[in-house]
Amino acid sequence: MTVSTLNDGPVARITLDNPDKRNAFDDRIIASLTEAFETVGCDDSIRVVVLQAAGKHFSAGADLNWMRAMGKLDAQQNRDDALRLARLMQVIDQCPKPVVARVQGAAFGGALGLICAADMAVAADNARFCLSEVKLGIVPAVISPYVVRALGARQANRYFMTAEVIPAERAVALGIVHEVVAESELDTSVDALVASLLSAAPQAQIEARELIAQVSHGPIDQAMLNHTADLIARLRTGAEGQEGLSAFLEKRKPNWR
Ligand code: COA
Repeated sequence: MTVSTLNDGPVARITLDNPDKRNAFDDRIIASLTEAFETVGCDDSIRVVVLQAAGKHFSAGADLNWMRAMGKLDAQQNRDDALRLARLMQVIDQCPKPVVARVQGAAFGGALGLICAADMAVAADNARFCLSEVKLGIVPAVISPYVVRALGARQANRYFMTAEVIPAERAVALGIVHEVVAESELDTSVDALVASLLSAAPQAQIEARELIAQVSHGPIDQAMLNHTADLIARLRTGAEGQEGLSAFLEKRKPNWR
């Protein structure tokens, strides 16, 4: 088994489980991961997804045997295959449940795409990151929208072009992960994030993610004012908004807890 999903109440843990190959992913694993995220995304009993990996390393990124083999296919097959990895990143990014990445050891190449497509990430202090693609004569192509979103263009310039190894503490400063903790504290820190996520309203969380994407681009003009006003007007009249506001004022837990 190379990808497994374990549902623990409202939390789904999707595990990359091919440590002998450092959790490098090929077309088969990409298909399994995509299916795993699509499945938990549609499962009403799941509220939060943790993406994690077995063994010493989170992932060595794309399987380089597969990458080389795909480069020998005809142009259409080659492109279709690359699109399937692009689609996996999008499925994680747009998962209707918050996604937390739990990172230990090496996270190289495409692994950075998985992490940056997740909503948040916690790393062990032994984690190290590398956009190694240029050393292989390629570029971090399909992961770039998520990695550049996290790093910003200027920092991406450096790490896309040098393929330097990024230690865990620097990865926090760069925005790749949200926090670094001792390896022994990794599960505790992930669990704390999961608990915070479970305490919030599920639909509001997804609306919040969309809001961030929308206000990150474009001028703060009347159209943006209208959009943000429409959103709060809609959410505070909705069932979740009414329940959350009432629960606070009535000093009780909201019904999603
Ligand atoms: N694709 C295919 N196989 C890979 C791989 C990858 N991306 N990364 C590691 N492996 C394989 C190795 O070939 C080796 O196989 P073997 O046991 O049959 O010889 C096995 O996994 C262990 O790798 P090894 O390098 O000995 O592990 P390590 O723990 O010393 O180092 C890494 C781990 C991740 C730092 C190192 O494997 C590495 O740098 N991998 C390449 C990562 C990369 O550049 N990815 C970019 C993809 S675009």
